[in-house]
Amino acid sequence: MGPFAQDLLMDKVVLVTGGATGLGRAMGEMFLKLGAKLAIAGRREDVLKQAAAEMGAGGGEVLWKSCDVRDPEQIRELAEALEQRFGRIDVLVNNAAGNFISPTERLSPRAVDAVLGIVLHGTFYAALEIGKRWIAAGQPGTMLNIVTTYASSGSGFVAPSAAAKAGVLALTRSLAVEWARYGIRQVAIAPGPFPTEGAWSRLSPTPELERKMLDRIPLKRVGRPEELAHLAAYLISDYAEYLNGEVVTIDGGEWLQGAGQFNGLLDVTDEQWERLAELTRKGK
Ligand code: HXC
Ligand code: NAP
Repeated sequence: MGPFAQDLLMDKVVLVTGGATGLGRAMGEMFLKLGAKLAIAGRREDVLKQAAAEMGAGGGEVLWKSCDVRDPEQIRELAEALEQRFGRIDVLVNNAAGNFISPTERLSPRAVDAVLGIVLHGTFYAALEIGKRWIAAGQPGTMLNIVTTYASSGSGFVAPSAAAKAGVLALTRSLAVEWARYGIRQVAIAPGPFPTEGAWSRLSPTPELERKMLDRIPLKRVGRPEELAHLAAYLISDYAEYLNGEVVTIDGGEWLQGAGQFNGLLDVTDEQWERLAELTRKGK
């Protein structure tokens, strides 16, 4: 059992890019459980095929199609396939991404392009292709973009991802205003750390780096994919129809801990506070 009625997304046609793995898959499974018709896309055909078979085993309808979001023609073919199979598309979830940690000065231009191409251009191309179809058909729709907490703050060692996700956030907010008149709504999720294979292998590949990450989170744990999937289900549902242009952070408080000037005082012990209290009271 979950927080929602089992028909929350009944018959909604949802496309999740990068939907065969990690958070995309968790969202797709949740959408199916809540009655949606699902399409997943990514570059690797074998991965998509297997995921679609496993995800659809419960009886839901899953379309899979290989598609590199960096190629607008492949996105056009994907949209065609969805319309042929389901008659329309109701929700686009821009979840496909590429990222890895590296000192920026070690990056080649091709490495920068690899990340910007998937995250910024891929998201924009998908929004353009599907948005134009919705506008031409006079049909409403919802776009959910998966960004990151550092889309707002920037972050060292993932500069291409930070730049690209900041662009996606700006796109979310821009289209929220521009396309609202067509009944097209924009929402975004900014996840903190969720240990998917795709992210962990590229961003937290040693136990030491993982420990460092946990220390940064007030709740002292990483996210569970189903927590993000529940949020996504609500955001694309009819109950969130007045949410437009908003980004919801789901990170256990991580970015706030990094931002608050005195949050380092979490390390101070009770005995140290006794001594500090004497000193600070003297300043009265
Ligand atoms: C330095 C690297 C590199 C690395 C690739 N390159 N990996 N440079 N460090 N770890 C360089 C290559 O040398 C090459 O440049 C250029 O990038 C392109 O590499 P390709 O392997 O040809 O690219 P491609 O096949 O397009 O793969 C894209 C990718 C890859 C982004 C590099 O990692 C990928 O496919 N990722 C998809 C899944 C993913 O990243 N998931 C994580 C999402 S997590 P040269 O000049 O040598 O040719 C996320 C947010 C997490 O986004 C937030 C955490 C809390
Ligand atoms: P993931 O499993 O690696 O997901 C990335 C997906 O994108 C893969 O299915 C991949 O499939 C697909 N993809 C990559 N390049 C593509 C391309 N050119 N065309 C089409 N699809 C492509 O990692 P994840 O952790 O689930 O990440 C999902 C989303 O959450 C991403 O937007 C990521 O930035 C965001 N996020 C994750 C975390 C986290 O901690 N996990 C934190 C913040 C934000 P193929 O390789 O087969 O194409």
